[in-house]
Amino acid sequence: MKRRIILGTALSALVAFSAGIATADTPPLAQKERYKVGFAQMESNNPWRIAETKSFHDTAEACNWDLIATDAAGSAAKQVADVDSMIAQGIDVLFLPPREEKPLIPAVMKAKAAGIPTFLVDRSVDPNVAKPGEHFVAFLGSDFIDQGKRAAEWLIENFDGDAGVIVELEGTTGSSPANDRKKGFDDRIAEDDRFEIVASQTGDFARDLGRQVMETLLQAHPDVNVVYAHNDEMAIGAIQALELAGRKPGVDVTIVSIDGTRDALQAIIDGKMGVTVESSPFFGPLACEVMNKYAAGEEIPGWVQVKDRVFTQDNAADHIDEAY
Ligand code: AHR
Repeated sequence: MKRRIILGTALSALVAFSAGIATADTPPLAQKERYKVGFAQMESNNPWRIAETKSFHDTAEACNWDLIATDAAGSAAKQVADVDSMIAQGIDVLFLPPREEKPLIPAVMKAKAAGIPTFLVDRSVDPNVAKPGEHFVAFLGSDFIDQGKRAAEWLIENFDGDAGVIVELEGTTGSSPANDRKKGFDDRIAEDDRFEIVASQTGDFARDLGRQVMETLLQAHPDVNVVYAHNDEMAIGAIQALELAGRKPGVDVTIVSIDGTRDALQAIIDGKMGVTVESSPFFGPLACEVMNKYAAGEEIPGWVQVKDRVFTQDNAADHIDEAY
């Protein structure tokens, strides 16, 4: 049975609870004056990650957290080791954005074995192996399939040519947003026979790699006129590559993307990017709220879903001051 409870959170997006309810199988969390909280960040090589880490630091004082925050520098193995170290330091609760779906499962299992409740934030793990309400309390994050679908729908509505030749820049291979943003976009775009995805390659959610991959793909597919990037950093990298090649992003190449960073909103205002579907990094206040509800014995649904907005020429200027 589904239920939807609208929460009052500081997240800019509307947040709703949906999907399965967590059970007593996850370790309990005692109500305390202060909590020792672990936040095991995966990397800090882009504005999204930096904003997310800052959101946890900004929340720590108000939520009575003694925060231990680590940075795995893009290594899933280090992220697992960081969680090991947090367990050894006696954290009360773990917030984990798993870099990839499978390699972080041992971290989830070890935290549970140590009696530490885990909340996955912004990315999830392989649902066939680790389950909310059993191995971790809940996943706090967006519907990535829907994000990809909404990017495709904007393109279908706004592309005015006869033939869309699409290059897709994928996020980190094996990560939940890369898997799901691809599925959501590809499935929806396949319903419109004006479009063909001629290449789909990973840029690891990084600006530099996105630029390099775009440079290579441009050689093989000089007729590309649409770029779908799984995040804004890769979209900005693609814009740089296109401009270096003498192309005009926003004029002869339509750029669609996901996140809502400051650089992306500026690119929309400048007419270089068409749309970015929001994926908010501001998880600190939501993490505090859900953790306190869990400590109070309230039922927590397996997926605390963040609702995302869409930024286009119509509203980018209204939101750039709040962007990161
Ligand atoms: O997990 C969310 C994704 O991770 C963001 O879209 C991306 O920019 C980040 O690195």
